[in-house]
Amino acid sequence: MIITIDGPAAAGKGTLAASLAKEFNLAYFDTGMVYRAVGLEMLLNGYELTDNEKAEKFAEQLTFPRMMELSKNPEFRSLNGSRAASAVAAMPKVRQALLEMQQNFSHNPVFADGSKADGAIYDGRDTGTVICPHADIKFFITASPEVRAMRRFKEYQEKGQDVDYKEVLEQTIARDKNDFARAGSQPAADAIHFDTSDLSISEVFEQVCKIIVEKQKTLEK
Ligand code: C5P
Repeated sequence: MIITIDGPAAAGKGTLAASLAKEFNLAYFDTGMVYRAVGLEMLLNGYELTDNEKAEKFAEQLTFPRMMELSKNPEFRSLNGSRAASAVAAMPKVRQALLEMQQNFSHNPVFADGSKADGAIYDGRDTGTVICPHADIKFFITASPEVRAMRRFKEYQEKGQDVDYKEVLEQTIARDKNDFARAGSQPAADAIHFDTSDLSISEVFEQVCKIIVEKQKTLEK
């Protein structure tokens, strides 16, 4: 079974995807990581975020082990790291270079220890449209920019990062504009939508689980 969860930053996709992965024995691919990895390579090597050629080179060379190594860097999920990810994600050749790595994951879904999973779950912006257009179930999760910015602000605070809410809200709006302007980042026509502004993640989880269980029954027939 292949499931995709798309939507804007801090809508709750990651938490939901990780819980669903556990519940249904699925291997989880957080696709934002590929762009964060390329963005961080640019920052670590001192290149301008407008340097398409360098970003493309890092995208072509990216491997899973390198991505996991970079993810341990505190800048990987910082405000700066997010800005860099969004900048390189806007480059069509970078997206193209990272496509195969993301698609291959669903061909043989395995956990980090190499054991076989019962399928794959993706989260990102274009996983139901570009990465896995033939996924069995597609979700589109959203929430208002204010709610999402407050969630990110609290995450930064918990990590001890010094940011102000206004800056996080501005970046949330700027990233939405940047991320959703490009082709493929609109919700898939067959995606099931959830607005998490007024729903807790456990409420969303319960509703989504019911949909998946129903779908599983039709797949088993
Ligand atoms: O999901 P996350 O916030 O980690 O993603 C970081 C950035 O990577 C996003 O702001 C977006 O620009 C980009 N992204 C993308 N397509 C995806 C996943 C992430 O363009 N499928």
